[in-house]
Amino acid sequence: MSEIATVKCDLHHICKVPQGIEYGKGIGILKFFEGKNIFVTGGTGLLGKVLVEKILRSTSVGKIYILVKADDQEAAVDRIAKELINSELFRCLKEKHGKYYQAYIRETLIPIVGNICEPNLGMDFDSAHAIMEDVNVIIESAAITTLNERYDVLLEANVNSPQQLMRFAKTCKNLELFVHISTAYVNGEREGIILEKPLIMGENRRNDDTCNTSPFPRLDITDEVNLSVSRKQMASSNYDLTRDMKSLGMERANLYGWYNTYHLTKAMAEMVINETRGDIPVVVSRPTVIESCYKEPVPGWIQGNSTNGFKRVPITFLTNGVMIPLDIVVNGTIAAIAKHGYIQKPELNVYHMSSSVTNPLRYSEFFEYLYEYFSSEPLVESESLIRVNYYDDIEKIKYFDNFNDFSKYTREEISRRAGQGNVVGTEKAKKQCRAKIMYAEHLCKMYEFLGHFKARFHAGNTQKLLYEMSKEEVDNFDIDVSKIEWRKYFQEVHIPGLRKHVLNDRSIHV
Ligand SMILES: NC(=O)c1ccc[n+]([C@@H]2O[C@H](COP(=O)([O-])OP(=O)(O)OC[C@H]3O[C@@H](n4cnc5c(N)ncnc54)[C@H](OP(=O)(O)O)[C@@H]3O)[C@@H](O)[C@H]2O)c1
Repeated sequence: MSEIATVKCDLHHICKVPQGIEYGKGIGILKFFEGKNIFVTGGTGLLGKVLVEKILRSTSVGKIYILVKADDQEAAVDRIAKELINSELFRCLKEKHGKYYQAYIRETLIPIVGNICEPNLGMDFDSAHAIMEDVNVIIESAAITTLNERYDVLLEANVNSPQQLMRFAKTCKNLELFVHISTAYVNGEREGIILEKPLIMGENRRNDDTCNTSPFPRLDITDEVNLSVSRKQMASSNYDLTRDMKSLGMERANLYGWYNTYHLTKAMAEMVINETRGDIPVVVSRPTVIESCYKEPVPGWIQGNSTNGFKRVPITFLTNGVMIPLDIVVNGTIAAIAKHGYIQKPELNVYHMSSSVTNPLRYSEFFEYLYEYFSSEPLVESESLIRVNYYDDIEKIKYFDNFNDFSKYTREEISRRAGQGNVVGTEKAKKQCRAKIMYAEHLCKMYEFLGHFKARFHAGNTQKLLYEMSKEEVDNFDIDVSKIEWRKYFQEVHIPGLRKHVLNDRSIHV
């Protein structure tokens, strides 16, 4: 695997962190949020939950309307109660309000039944009307985040929905800001230092300048939607439909210079938002791969993806140098909201939430931290845990620079161990091993791009927010990635957090 360090640039010159921060005059975060009404989509997701919790806990926000997929209002209220307000993540907020907690929540957090893929976002007339009258800020965090999901499904959820939400935003009487949560990987295959620039409708992201000239096809979103519709009609069974739509998405993504369908459709989302925003001020927050909370509200808190409870575990093992703790993304997004909510210029401002320039983490360091951690805290087999280690001793990580070598090695190793008659000797265990190998190979292919990644995300705008913050704001909304101690984060916070919150390992205390 290639190290990110191959980027040819004087990084320190570009993003030097001043020694000893001088605090700024302040952005006015608390003042901005005072009494503001916010509409959030994706508030039941990994990022959305922490964002909602932080705004409730740290500001005097007015109301937060939260779009929830549910059959009816009662089910939406139940979902919010179970997944947010009565969860461990909301413990600090609960303690803050004591016996008034439930009353505070009833008044402040308003569940709205809806679905971003339905007309009018699936909201009933009264709810939509209330939001139109009331809301000052819209935060769009809902998306389908499966990298190789069907093309038609991702076009609907990740491209059509933002367009729909922007149309809705334009009907809101008191709207001050539209916030779109994107991803740093909308930058596609481009290499080197990537600046926080808006994407322009039609551009591709191939790492080859010649392709932006005439022979290369312009990315036309309408054509892409039409293509997916026409291919959809050709499928003769559900199985074919899923297979064809998944491969079509990956094919189109690779053609235009993105690593997968999810990144392509998130890039399209930014393009449609930029194209249709008119004079609505927009903030685009682009995190790298989000990992568990570093400090607040619960260090190590993370949740698995709803479609794959273990998604975060393997991603963690594959995405070094491009990770960012959840609470830092949330604080950065909140600070950007306050800044542009005040300014209210009809611009689109991009914020990379990334440490890859200021405080990069290299593969060698990352794997060393994992090795040290698991050497002293190995995962042990139990009914509720995944067994990752078949040895008494943990082996050092092996590096492969191509998929075939990786696949050959893992297959040989597994059959060798299965033949040793130890824990993996039974037929059932062999079958499980084969399934694990296929899963590992699938993940390896899916996240291969991160191993060969040759870009760093410049985060000058986010850095600027830090310099503008007052001391109180820095204390309450910490976004200083240069202070992340990666060894400590992995060994004391993140990996224990994954074990506790994703693998349900009750022996772990973070
Ligand atoms: N996680 C990362 O590493 C990462 C990195 C960079 C950027 N991002 C971006 O950050 C945002 C949040 O990601 P996440 O990690 O929080 O994702 P997540 O955990 O998968 O949550 C996705 C959210 O979107 C909602 N949603 C999906 N389809 C919907 C629909 N049809 N109608 C209504 N709501 C729907 C989900 O609702 P349900 O709970 O009902 O499914 C959930 O609340 C996304 O825009 C993503 O692209 C994430």
